[in-house]
Amino acid sequence: MIKTVNEVSPLIGTNPDSGAVQTVPFPGHTSVPEPEPRLLSAVVAGTGFDVPERILTNADLEQLVATSDAWITERTGMKERRIAAPDQAASDFALRASQRALADAGISAEEVDLIVVATVTGDMPFPSTSCILQHRLGATRAAAMDVAAGCSGFIYALATARQFIATGAYKTVLVVGVEVLSKITDWTDRGTCVLLADGAGAAVLRASADRDRGVVASYLGADGSRGDDLFMPAGGSRIPASVESVQQRLHFLKMNGNAIFKVAVRRMAESVNRVLRAARLKAEDIKLLIPHQANLRIIEATAKLLGFPMERVFVNIQKYANTSSATTIIALDEARRAGRVLAGDVVVLVAFGAGLTWGGVAIRW
Ligand code: UT7
Repeated sequence: MIKTVNEVSPLIGTNPDSGAVQTVPFPGHTSVPEPEPRLLSAVVAGTGFDVPERILTNADLEQLVATSDAWITERTGMKERRIAAPDQAASDFALRASQRALADAGISAEEVDLIVVATVTGDMPFPSTSCILQHRLGATRAAAMDVAAGCSGFIYALATARQFIATGAYKTVLVVGVEVLSKITDWTDRGTCVLLADGAGAAVLRASADRDRGVVASYLGADGSRGDDLFMPAGGSRIPASVESVQQRLHFLKMNGNAIFKVAVRRMAESVNRVLRAARLKAEDIKLLIPHQANLRIIEATAKLLGFPMERVFVNIQKYANTSSATTIIALDEARRAGRVLAGDVVVLVAFGAGLTWGGVAIRW
């Protein structure tokens, strides 16, 4: 039985320093109150993912650009990735991932109150991919919106969904991370084309009065001054599509990989510390750390900066490469199915991406 908001008293006032962990110093971003007031819990009731059938290996990429399996493996940890067929779009993968998450949760699409889809490669600029998904799923009661936060998209979407549940506004929220990056990839640019891939993951969040379970903390950050380190210049109102914009290859993703690498490590480490502090947990309490899968070296450097053992870090980058907003939720679903997330376990998801954006969530199972 789900209690109403008034029956659940907020959890405020405990000493935030009691669960202090090794802190990565970083100025600014003090907008999140700590500890967070909590009303209803947002419990993860089900997860699912879907990826395209077509596998593109490092050997395949050797045929496209001047690269090698050795370089890609050593510099990124990636071995293969999934690539959509020409006629496939984001909602195709979002639909199957959502159906699997709903089946896992044991609920029907009609029970969903809100759909939040994180993507920067939706089916089209509008209507939103969440509206397309709402229709295709038959989630006729649900409100629907997209969240654009690059590779941090799923974290932003989950944190957003949690707020609607915490306040009692909605009981059941479907959160999706989906990208079809292959459609905005410049297949002549070896600096990006070896990294990017397609896929979708979904989670069903449900309201619960059990404050020991669910999303126990979230943290979001952004630095818009670094927007042009990772962006797609054309296709919006600044540079609408034209013959020139296509000829100048402005409808492809552009990235300053080196600059992003350093920020990624520091911001993901910071995000782990922020959510631990907000949840009054220690690093030892984390059963599994699920970082954004952009580069194995970024993941390893983040773990090293935190003093966190790689045995408790989930990595599936070798199979799916960088699916942007889908990486953490695909990884969470795989980790659950591999038996690496059990009742009572604390899982922390962290990501960074275009914007620049970053953030984390801590979930107790
Ligand atoms: O999802 C969020 C956004 N993206 C990221 O998180 C990506 C973050 N950045 C990275 O993962 C890495 O910076 C990259 C994987 C993109 C690049 O790795 P790196 O170790 O930083 O390499 P680099 O850019 O410093 O390039 C080293 C060399 C260069 O050659 P020279 O100048 O030393 O002769 C590149 O031209 O490697 C060359 N190179 C390649 N060689 C073979 C760059 N891409 C490739 C390639 N194959 N695909």
